[in-house]
Amino acid sequence: LDNGVGKTPAMGWNSWNYFRCNINETIIRQVADAIVASGLKDAGYRYVNIDDCWMEKRDPTTGRIQPFANKFPSGMKALGDYIHGLGLHFGIYSDTGNKTCEGYPGSWGYEKLDAATYAEWGVDYLKFDYCGMDGVQESVQASYERMRDALAATGRPILFSLCSWGSGQPWLWGKQVGNSWRTGIDVFAAWDTAQARALKLPSFLQPILGAVRQTQGLAEYAGPGAFNDPDMLVVGLDGMYPYGIVQDCPEHVRNCKPGEYISRDRWGKVGGLTQTEQRTHFSFWCVMAAPLILGNDPRNMSKATLQILLAREVLAVNQDPLGAQGRPVWTAPNEGTTEVWAKPLADGRTAILLVNLGNSTVDITTEFSRDAPAEHAKWSRETNSTAPKCVDKDELCPSWAKSGECIINAGFMLEKCPHSCPEGCPQPLEP
Ligand code: GLA
Repeated sequence: LDNGVGKTPAMGWNSWNYFRCNINETIIRQVADAIVASGLKDAGYRYVNIDDCWMEKRDPTTGRIQPFANKFPSGMKALGDYIHGLGLHFGIYSDTGNKTCEGYPGSWGYEKLDAATYAEWGVDYLKFDYCGMDGVQESVQASYERMRDALAATGRPILFSLCSWGSGQPWLWGKQVGNSWRTGIDVFAAWDTAQARALKLPSFLQPILGAVRQTQGLAEYAGPGAFNDPDMLVVGLDGMYPYGIVQDCPEHVRNCKPGEYISRDRWGKVGGLTQTEQRTHFSFWCVMAAPLILGNDPRNMSKATLQILLAREVLAVNQDPLGAQGRPVWTAPNEGTTEVWAKPLADGRTAILLVNLGNSTVDITTEFSRDAPAEHAKWSRETNSTAPKCVDKDELCPSWAKSGECIINAGFMLEKCPHSCPEGCPQPLEP
């Protein structure tokens, strides 16, 4: 989006991955302080973004959105001032629908008022989610465009981050509407599909490698001010709390029944990535020119976490002004566990990422004479990351599906299968 901001991928922090709904102004201030004290600010992490659960209700007469008074007693303007006082930027969250993903008031019908309110508070970044849209007869693009226009009308440059995880193929129109768009469902601190299965993650949470595969074929849509967003980082998290409807009960969740909704508290903390996996996760995000939004607790970071997040040369690859998304240009025949990625840089050089997804040390050789675009086209055809797959285990049945209709999780959205399921919908998605 040509709105003067977000020319390179956004860098900052967001409350969701670590704090979820347990946020308040004290935590946000402490995190902002820690971003400065730890050197994260100097490395370029500037946005301090509050995610879901800050908003309580609308004023019954003016319709103005109000934060929870017990969580944000000083108000959002004061919090924004504090963040700005540290030389950081202030980010906030809302939703296209009537309700956010956690069920709090969304911006539907209030786009202009909300945008004006955010501008008054000094907001610099809006993450706009896509929940509560069941039965809405409007294209996803149009819903996001209304907020884009409302933000533009405020005259304040506000980075517009589309959290379009459940909404078709936002990369096809994202460039005109937002500074970045989510390419898939929420990432979780698990490395690959095997781990996600072992953890029995609900189907709207995906492992890191899933987000990479979902995003790697979309390089042509990225450029300055417009980036594919495979979701926020999980570097520095020693696990996360899943939630949702389980098809297959995790053993440790007591009295769990298949098809039941399991809350985060009942599930408890699971997952986590090894240091090597965290470095690989970060390297992928950097080579893909993905937004680097931290999801950890900056008040409490290990040396190892900081080493990853402050790696200057790696950050420079991510922040290169050309804004090109790197592509996988070669994959080795040895069980596909080694890959070579290339990202063109503004000064004509190319950054190379050598990936070893196997369990042992390998030598990876690459030839600079290799025809990267041709190799990439071949790779894209073979992996075809946007094609929905109809596999039994991914079949779901949301409340809006007609009976017998097969809905699949296509990695980024619920979609109709091109063929019908032999047994129809196995499990209702909504209780
Ligand atoms: C969705 C988004 C997450 C987070 C939650 C908050 O799941 O994808 O990043 O914002 O909503 O409810």
